[in-house]
Amino acid sequence: MKGAVGTQAVVLLLLVLHLHSFRVLSQSDGSAAPMEEKEKKALYSMIQNFVGRSWNGSGLYPDLCGWTPIQGISCDYFDNGLWYITTVSIGPVLENSLQCSPKATFSHFLFELSHLKSLSIFSCFSSPSAHQAITIPPKNWEKLSSSLETLELRSNKGLIGQIPPVFGKLVNLKSLVLTENSLSGEIPIELGNLVRLNRLTLSENQLSGEVPASLGSNLAELLIMDISRNSLTGFLNAFGGLTSLLKLDLSNNLLSGNLPEELGSLKNLTLLDLRNNNLSGGLPLSLQGMSSLQYMLLSSNPMGGRIEEFGWKTLQKLIYLDLSNMGFVGRIPESITELKSLRFIALDKNKLTGPVSTKLASLPCLSALYLNGNNLTGELGFSEAFYERMGRRFASWDNPNLCYRSAAGRKIGKGPEGVAECSVSLLKSENKMIRDERNN
Ligand SMILES: *[C@@H]1O[C@H](CO)[C@@H](O)[C@H](O)[C@H]1NC(C)=O
Ligand SMILES: *[C@@H]1O[C@H](CO)[C@@H](O)[C@H](O)[C@H]1NC(C)=O
Ligand SMILES: *[C@@H]1O[C@H](CO)[C@@H](O)[C@H](O)[C@H]1NC(C)=O
Ligand SMILES: *[C@@H]1O[C@H](CO)[C@@H](O)[C@H](O)[C@H]1NC(C)=O
Repeated sequence: MKGAVGTQAVVLLLLVLHLHSFRVLSQSDGSAAPMEEKEKKALYSMIQNFVGRSWNGSGLYPDLCGWTPIQGISCDYFDNGLWYITTVSIGPVLENSLQCSPKATFSHFLFELSHLKSLSIFSCFSSPSAHQAITIPPKNWEKLSSSLETLELRSNKGLIGQIPPVFGKLVNLKSLVLTENSLSGEIPIELGNLVRLNRLTLSENQLSGEVPASLGSNLAELLIMDISRNSLTGFLNAFGGLTSLLKLDLSNNLLSGNLPEELGSLKNLTLLDLRNNNLSGGLPLSLQGMSSLQYMLLSSNPMGGRIEEFGWKTLQKLIYLDLSNMGFVGRIPESITELKSLRFIALDKNKLTGPVSTKLASLPCLSALYLNGNNLTGELGFSEAFYERMGRRFASWDNPNLCYRSAAGRKIGKGPEGVAECSVSLLKSENKMIRDERNN
């Protein structure tokens, strides 16, 4: 009985194999990887629109999913027994990659590739002046909505105009990367419909307006949001819906107003980069909730307020703390000396006052400490070995009331740059000042 079933199975398998090879060999065009003729033609025409008319796809690559593959194009086999194009990657990645001609354009043939999962166009539309400027087609993208997962248009300085709102119909997108182009206008609200997105990178364009609230509330699977180096204005909206977020980079824009309290609910965030904006209103205490944060980069914002009252202790993972040029007053918080992973601390160009704790030197990984351009006072008590170890990555100049002295009280070979050795009188007046402060 058992043997009979086995034999039946073998016979069935042979039959299937036979039928399959018969079908493959009987393809009208004789190719080993059968495709719909329409699909093939669409790909050839689409590529021609990018690389130039002289490219003869049917001549050079008759069996494009089989024996004559094209660099940057890949195919998958589907249940209906046919091969379909799933990846198109154009641009100078490898020596034999498809490269754009100066007359490159998008063509409607792109939208006939009904199984396309990944489209990448890199360094293709080179400069707005070299040829007619190109815009992203405003229509038809919905035809790719059931398949497209990755869309990447990178380093196309000749790509101008807006991000088409129809991108919001690409509901299967996991990665949308439109970086280093010349795109302008506002970010379409419709991008908030892309609920499967893991990565949204719109950096280095000329996008303006506010970050749509829909992005901050809907994209629960987003891991990376990078809209740095644009011209975004207005307030930062709430980001409370981005519960998975690991990296948020909105640096180098014109954002103003307060940091939203909800940022603190991003428990998995490791990088927060808001450098070079116009953010103000002090550091909200809620940021203490960002317990995974490793990179806090907030420099060059007119934030104001004090940092000593902020509970730094909860940010135990912090590696890189850049609070340079933010209008902070008050003292250097002693609690940052408990953040043992810190490697980089920049507190320069603020209005910080008071003494510099020698405990900073006991941070085991510290390799850069910038304190210059404040109004710190008293005696720098670090050891000679500390200054030697830090080299140029220690800066304390432009603090007129700061002086240094070696721990042993002897003159040290090379003190911190731009800081005078303490004179007795300065020390005395400093000690008196500290006494006065305590008595008050
Ligand atoms: C492309 O190549 C095919 C096959 O070699 C040839 O028949 C056809 O004429 C060529 N087309 C052009 C436009 O050169
Ligand atoms: C945060 O990260 C942890 C550990 O990597 C993971 O288990 C958790 O699901 C993440 N939280 C969210 C909301 O994605
Ligand atoms: C910066 O923010 C302040 C206060 O929020 C605002 O008055 C000012 O216009 C902003 N500046 C720019 C250049 O946006
Ligand atoms: C620096 O602090 C001292 C007192 O410690 C004060 O007298 C002086 O005005 C301050 N200088 C500036 C520029 O704030």
